[in-house]
Amino acid sequence: MTDNVCRYNIIVALDVDNSGSALDLARQLDPQLCRLKVGKELFTSCGHEVIGKLHSLGYEVFLDLKFHDIPNTVAKAVRAAANLGVWMVNVHASGGRAMMIAAKEALENYPEEQRPYLIAVTALTSLDATDLLEVGFNYTPQQLVKRLAVLTHDCGLNGVVCSSNEVQLLRSTLGNDFMLVTPGIRPLDTSLDDQKRTMTPAEALAAGSDYLVIGRPVTRSSNPLKSLRGIVAEMDQSRLPES
Ligand code: C5P
Repeated sequence: MTDNVCRYNIIVALDVDNSGSALDLARQLDPQLCRLKVGKELFTSCGHEVIGKLHSLGYEVFLDLKFHDIPNTVAKAVRAAANLGVWMVNVHASGGRAMMIAAKEALENYPEEQRPYLIAVTALTSLDATDLLEVGFNYTPQQLVKRLAVLTHDCGLNGVVCSSNEVQLLRSTLGNDFMLVTPGIRPLDTSLDDQKRTMTPAEALAAGSDYLVIGRPVTRSSNPLKSLRGIVAEMDQSRLPES
């Protein structure tokens, strides 16, 4: 893991399919202003070498591969992620208690400064109640999110990924010592793209989110650094005491 130089809780999603584009974006951005998320597309296209290159540019990396398998396999995958030096890694909470505990235990021998944060995905925001019923969950998305977040907390993981609409519920249920990592963030005056329920950075922070995952508003911008700085300014503004 790199020395922590980042001053803002922004994670830019590098949703591109080649390391040239990923590194080009990383060079235009600033590791003091954001961390970077490497997901399935980039990792599957380029392998783990891209992570080393992002580290050498000074970034901390969230490896967003959402592991979901038998406990032994997930534990080994999480350990492999830790060996890459990533800052954060995730699993699916629906993999169950034994899987999450195995993943957590796999990281216990790493010194704290080399141990990635381990978080879980609760219910994918792309699933509605009908989809959940079809795969055997007789819950509304919000009920399932709460149930899986409580289980994740119980297993001792560091936090969950959740939509900004669920932040208040989870914060009040699970307290402050549990990371809530929130995608679906749209700065003021930007396109919603395919996201349906969004919050601005200031709204998500006010609701209790810890880390904001932001992709296209930065990566598709003609000036990614300027867009990132705009988000930073919006966050700074929201923290100013009211006059
Ligand atoms: O471009 P945009 O800001 O919509 O990107 C959001 C990122 O967060 C993408 O990498 C997407 O896969 C991820 N994500 C999401 N909704 C979830 C979980 C992850 O948008 N529920």
